[in-house]
Amino acid sequence: MMNKSLKEVPKEIILATTNKGKKSEFESLCEGTGILIKNIEQPFECEETGDSFIENATQKAKLAAKITRSYCIADDSGLCVESMNGEPGIYSARFFNNGAGMIKIIEALRNCVNRNAFFVCALVLASSEGRVLWQTEKKWEGTISQKPLGNNGFGYDPIFIPNGYSQTAGELDENVKKEISHRAKSILSFKEFFLSLNN
Ligand code: IMP
Repeated sequence: MMNKSLKEVPKEIILATTNKGKKSEFESLCEGTGILIKNIEQPFECEETGDSFIENATQKAKLAAKITRSYCIADDSGLCVESMNGEPGIYSARFFNNGAGMIKIIEALRNCVNRNAFFVCALVLASSEGRVLWQTEKKWEGTISQKPLGNNGFGYDPIFIPNGYSQTAGELDENVKKEISHRAKSILSFKEFFLSLNN
């Protein structure tokens, strides 16, 4: 969805998360655009009741806009494993369960030939009135490793081998991951949208 008919080009965007890591990822990938990225200041808890990444990101962006009365951007992400019918998907955070979820995935794939999996990141931009202005959903494709490897990154990184690499995302240099991941792809797509507004 592209909406170039904005009344004004936003100068400042509130991220619907208090996660400082996500803010710095946005800042480094949007460098040079002049846009100011801020974490939401208020305590932020959004019940995610959607049945897709986009729906959950939309709920978060709209709620943040209602609270702040500013342009807000929200993300929702997770890991989808093909041989598990796309699970854990939107339930990735709770399925992770301190790492036990990684072992469950490896066990579930014990006799599976298809070890394909992908991370998804949905991003939604809402106006200060809570209208959805733009959205995207990007994938990072790979396979599930035979065992968890590496201490870099977070979440399912130790069991995810991105296509084109022989190491898991947990073994990859974090600066490499930050440029090729599902989140990086979504943020770069936002950057393109934002730059297109200025032209
Ligand atoms: P959230 O969208 O930040 O709530 O992330 C949902 C969950 O998906 C996280 O808690 C992680 O378990 C998983 N996840 C999302 N992105 C990544 C990633 O880049 N690496 C590893 N796990 C991820």
